[in-house]
Amino acid sequence: MRSHYCGHVNKTLVGQRVAVAGWVHSRRDHGGVIFVDLRDREGILQVVFDPSASEVFAEAERLRSEYVIAVEGLVRERPEGTVNPALATGEVELVADKLTVLNRSLTPPFHHDENASEELRLRYRYLDLRRPSMLRNLRLRHEVTRAVRAFLDEHGFVDVETPVLTKPTPEGARDYLVPSRTHPGEFFALPQSPQLLKQILMIAGLDRYYQIVKCFRDEDLRADRQPEFTQIDIETSFMDEEGIMAVNEAMIRYVFKRVLDVDLPDPFPRLTYAEAMSRYGTDKPDLRNPLELVEIADLVANVEFKVFSGPAADPESRVAALRVPGGGELTRKEIDDYTALVARHGAKGLAYIKVNDRSAGRDGLQSPILKFLPDEAIEGILSRTGAATGDLIFFGADKAKIVNASLSVLRDAIGRDRDLTAGGFSPLWVVDFPMFERDDKGNLAALHHPFTAPKAPRAPGEPARELTPEELKAAPERAMSRAYDMVMNGYEIGGGSVRIHTPEMQSAVFEVLGISAEDAETKFGFLLTALKYGCPPLGGIAFGLDRLVMLMAGAENIREVIAFPKTQNASCLLTGAPSEADPEQLRELGIRVRAKS
Ligand code: AMO
Ligand code: AMP
Repeated sequence: MRSHYCGHVNKTLVGQRVAVAGWVHSRRDHGGVIFVDLRDREGILQVVFDPSASEVFAEAERLRSEYVIAVEGLVRERPEGTVNPALATGEVELVADKLTVLNRSLTPPFHHDENASEELRLRYRYLDLRRPSMLRNLRLRHEVTRAVRAFLDEHGFVDVETPVLTKPTPEGARDYLVPSRTHPGEFFALPQSPQLLKQILMIAGLDRYYQIVKCFRDEDLRADRQPEFTQIDIETSFMDEEGIMAVNEAMIRYVFKRVLDVDLPDPFPRLTYAEAMSRYGTDKPDLRNPLELVEIADLVANVEFKVFSGPAADPESRVAALRVPGGGELTRKEIDDYTALVARHGAKGLAYIKVNDRSAGRDGLQSPILKFLPDEAIEGILSRTGAATGDLIFFGADKAKIVNASLSVLRDAIGRDRDLTAGGFSPLWVVDFPMFERDDKGNLAALHHPFTAPKAPRAPGEPARELTPEELKAAPERAMSRAYDMVMNGYEIGGGSVRIHTPEMQSAVFEVLGISAEDAETKFGFLLTALKYGCPPLGGIAFGLDRLVMLMAGAENIREVIAFPKTQNASCLLTGAPSEADPEQLRELGIRVRAKS
């Protein structure tokens, strides 16, 4: 049916006969001549229908947008002045002498329109995916998985599939459940990750495993979260965190070089969790943004301004400053907008000082809080933040969680609004996480997952030391974990850890988490038993493929790099899933659905 892709027809084919097929991108009538831009996945070719070929011409007059056609004819150079340098095929056109309409199309509800609503785009996803930018994203994704497989194959990793119908794996989200017909009243869970099974593969002696695998999490969706998403899931035996991090950052460097011809740093920089929180207010900082938070609690501990001195005296709180170079030019309205932004993250206000003239002391400053601060505090703040004439300093004072959440989004927003955040890619590792954190109810929860190996707290530069189960139980809140996250441009693109490989330590962690021995047996008995049959030291990581490709594509939402994504409320507009089940199916499953309230 076809000799060439439309997008491949170029000057080298002038004078030759070609057969192409594709979709009518557009049709223009020009003084008796019809021009059709014919599109396939490789690009657009201009096809000319001349009235001298009257039958073909008559047929061409009936063509409409998105009709599917096959065309044959001679390739010729475009006349002087009609060359289109924007197109790969822009120097030539095809003079058609044969036209077959393979299929017609309704008038599309939107046509290659970048501004179509997402609702329309998802409902008619096939039309949306016809757009070159979407096709490019899908093909980029393919290039990325190809490169990942090539690298991992080269390094001895074996691709093993794990089941989709399985037991719950705790990764912090709700499970998607699947009722079992053969075991009425019982349910499979879709995996939140293959975590436990990849550990079991290490016990089985696979040594190096990987899988590009769907994971399912019923959680609140955001621009970088989907209920089903894809992990590049990796596990190794007999490697410590240094070895695992080295091979994984080499993989990411390889992928960026091969797919985008971008050189990432070697090695990636590292930050401890504590340092990341202190300097950026987040454990996934965008290091392309030069702004940093500065601790000022000690400078304001004794001031009369309670908004600052209160949190300065509370160990769970923090007082931090963010200097904005040139921020003196921010308007009242801009400051109000930033105040509203931090308020959405719990901040009760956004104090600031404008530095109109750094050399004039207090008189060179402008701020609603100046009158509450003594000279030493002001001077201390100005010198510690490195403030200069023309700058503005923002402040956050509250529980550390609130200050971190609000000043980190403020830092992102200012970096973007004031063009301070550079382009490109800025990867890093975040290490030395706490093993546990308190959840909203005050209970201890695993910061990563409960299979992560704990380690003793350490000062920077000190070697890591394992904990005994007794030490862990004695002071769980002090324990750190042997986990590491890979962060890029403000996104967590991967996370992993060295795992617990003894049943004693695994039971100790369950105990600390308040999981009873019986509960642990019901939920994770298979793992606890397997750990008793010779588990090697092991560890691994999982990357979020969707997030990685999103960054590489320069997109702002993972839905742009997923062929058939779900909406914010976890439905599929194309197929209409989820939908009600057939009563007969429900009866077989022993399920009765309560009337919708
Ligand atoms: P974690 O839960 O950190 O680790 O997941 C690994 C990576 O997967 C991506 N990710 C998501 N992407 C899109 N939508 C989501 N809902 C979503 N949730 C997570 C992130 C994240 O860094 N079993 C461990 C890995 C390990 O320890 O080896 C795990 O799943 O980019
Ligand atoms: P107030 O005394 O409450 O009017 O606050 C004086 C200034 O401090 C205002 O600019 C507020 O926006 C700011 N402010 C109030 N609470 C906080 C807080 N928790 N962190 C930072 N700034 C605050």
